[in-house]
Amino acid sequence: MTLTLPAPAKLNRMLHITGQRADGYHELQTLFQFLEHGDSLSFTLRDDEAIRLSPAIDGVPEEANLIVRAARLLREAAHAQSKVASPTALPGVDITLEKVLPMGGGLGGGSSDAATTLLALDRLWGLELGEDALAELGLSLGADVPVFVRGFAAWAEGIGERLVPAPLDTPWFVVIHPGVEVATPAVFGHPQLTRSSLAISMARALQGGRNDCEVVVRTLYPAVADALDWLDQFGTARLTGTGACVFCAFDDARQASEVLGRLELERPMWHAFSARGCNISPLHAALA
Ligand code: C5P
Repeated sequence: MTLTLPAPAKLNRMLHITGQRADGYHELQTLFQFLEHGDSLSFTLRDDEAIRLSPAIDGVPEEANLIVRAARLLREAAHAQSKVASPTALPGVDITLEKVLPMGGGLGGGSSDAATTLLALDRLWGLELGEDALAELGLSLGADVPVFVRGFAAWAEGIGERLVPAPLDTPWFVVIHPGVEVATPAVFGHPQLTRSSLAISMARALQGGRNDCEVVVRTLYPAVADALDWLDQFGTARLTGTGACVFCAFDDARQASEVLGRLELERPMWHAFSARGCNISPLHAALA
């Protein structure tokens, strides 16, 4: 049996940095929303215990890939919770990844792939570990994994793991990837990173907060600055996560596709797409 599931993109509609923990991670406030656009993963159980991913992702050894790490972590957790006698008592799995989301793009592609893997294998292996346990496992893989495990648009605090549902408007977005891969630690570690001393309320954020990483990313990656400035002529352009992708909201699909048409003529070197925002993750819609 093969289970095929989406791994959607996320946007940070705003992102506000409020502090830094002793371990170096930044505390933040952000509004997460999903897009009806993303990767797709297929899972087929094997006769042996191997965990195999295909095709390989360029430059990422299989051991380091979040998908493989998520599968192994889940197997260990099932054993630790006495669901199985040993991690290898569970069948292995062939995982096929259809990669659409760029790496270092701020769309959460790797984190989303990991969350889809946790939920898919929890189901295929019949573990029923529960969403709290899966979100905690996800957090050990990356700060953005828990929101993909939970599957609701959210107001997030902590390093992104304290989540409260935050239904947002669901416009069409034009998302531009200006062809650079942003190194997240370089942005978070930059001395110019704005740290807002005061936390803000969700209500204020909903009125249109900005992304505190933008100043640094503009400096480090001129192509991102160029994309923000180009998109700003149609509305309010924002950075998602630490970039490199930037986005702008539109009332309907027609307006979004007009902007994509302009982009093809004026900036043919950039990748771009349009997709609708959604408050329930397409992964959770598929699993329901
Ligand atoms: O959790 P993730 O692997 O996505 O984070 C990558 C890096 O980005 C971390 O090692 C850390 O340097 C930085 N980061 C941070 N604060 C966050 C998220 C990430 O400083 N909230």
